[in-house]
Amino acid sequence: MIRAVRSGHLVLVGLMGTGKTTVGRRLAEILERPFLDTDELIEARSGRRVREIFAADGEAAFRAIESQVLLDALAAPDPSVIAGAGGVVLQEANRDALRAAAGRVVWLRAEPGVLLERVKGGVHRPLLDDDPLAALERMARDRDALYREVADVVIDVDHLDVGRVIAEVLE
Ligand code: S3P
Repeated sequence: MIRAVRSGHLVLVGLMGTGKTTVGRRLAEILERPFLDTDELIEARSGRRVREIFAADGEAAFRAIESQVLLDALAAPDPSVIAGAGGVVLQEANRDALRAAAGRVVWLRAEPGVLLERVKGGVHRPLLDDDPLAALERMARDRDALYREVADVVIDVDHLDVGRVIAEVLE
């Protein structure tokens, strides 16, 4: 079910490690808007860590909660900054809702090789446990068209520090 989507949100999408949470949190401060992060919302709603949900219930169950929290975040009345986790574009209903949001969807895009350095130590990323570079490359192949489908703006963040990414988003 697609809930009513309010206008005016700024939504960040992209692969793991592109800086969605860090950039989104700072942007929310600058814009004086609420900040919503789908992984944090999932953990708050389920009372469990992302990794525990993957381990106990599997990826499909995780994706179902992810979809609920994304649609709820997009339906929030106050224009917010929303960091969507890497997989939010996988489901068609999520992509429809992202496109229907009258605000801006920004795709932070980076090469898997660059992201490999940035994802080290991220405990909430069980999909990167085995061979992180291969997993990131596979995700880039599978998801780039999906990010492109929902994005109003694409920012290549390979060579940008957080401050520069924020400046580009604000621009
Ligand atoms: C995932 C990205 C993670 C987290 C989970 C799955 C993905 O969030 O939701 O590990 O499939 O890309 P971040 O993009 O915030 O790292």
